[in-house]
Amino acid sequence: MGKIIAIANQKGGVGKTTTVINLGAALARKDKKVLIIDLDEQANATLGLGLSPDYVVKGAYDLFVDDININDTINVTSNNNLDIIPSTSQLANVEEKLQNIKNKKCILKDKLSYLKNDYDYVLIDCPSTFGTITDNALFLSDSVIIPVECEFLAYNGLNQMIQKIYQIQKEKNEMNLSLTIDGVLLTKLDNRNLFGYKIKEKVMELFPNKTYKTIIKRSSHLQEAPMHGKSVLDFAYNSRGSKEYRELADEIINNSEERK
Ligand SMILES: Nc1ncnc2c1ncn2[C@@H]1O[C@H](COP(=O)(O)OP(=O)(O)OP(=O)(O)O)[C@@H](O)[C@H]1O
Ligand SMILES: [Mg+2]
Repeated sequence: MGKIIAIANQKGGVGKTTTVINLGAALARKDKKVLIIDLDEQANATLGLGLSPDYVVKGAYDLFVDDININDTINVTSNNNLDIIPSTSQLANVEEKLQNIKNKKCILKDKLSYLKNDYDYVLIDCPSTFGTITDNALFLSDSVIIPVECEFLAYNGLNQMIQKIYQIQKEKNEMNLSLTIDGVLLTKLDNRNLFGYKIKEKVMELFPNKTYKTIIKRSSHLQEAPMHGKSVLDFAYNSRGSKEYRELADEIINNSEERK
């Protein structure tokens, strides 16, 4: 049975999408079958994996508003073992479309939970807002990866994300479902900036058992790869960013096996 993991943080620009793309590609290279679900209207994960949102026939938006065949939304990518349910800018209309729908938090859970039978890992790229879309991602997921940029404002916003997870955990427990924090991922650490290391220490104090050992450093390869519609593994396999995401994939695979 596979695992569904939301990559979430309401703080923008902390490395959610970069993590979804590169962790997804790294897991796929390790022979895991991976599905990425792009739930951000910016469609950055879709673009970063070389698909154009303009050519998407059916995507994440259709899952929310229509009774469609899920297979029609699943696209293959140029990576073996890596599929994607793409996003389009239409996702911006979901909130309005679902205004009067009851139990709208559970739409994706009800439709997509079965994907755990087909994939080893389903990774969900969340938007940087709390609302129906993020709620759906958290109800569908077994666990959450919270990327935190090594800078003060991102650290400061972490508490809000944790409170959100507690709130959903409470609601899910009443339904006999769970949501765990898979881990907190430190991102964009700049070797030349000592302050970033202070933030790293503080996060590790707060989450001694939940902070991944792997830390993603600031890297131009990670920034450039999406421009070419490629993961950093395909763009620059031997770069540091590629190595770090491969190490993160190992950590996540080991954690999943330990918890089995
Ligand atoms: N480790 C890194 N080193 C350098 N640049 C990075 C790194 N991680 C992410 N970036 C860059 O920082 C910006 C934000 O990253 P990303 O899009 O992954 O964040 P996000 O949390 O998904 O943002 P949003 O909230 O807008 O969805 C992008 O330009 C990305 O290329
Ligand atoms: Mg993003």
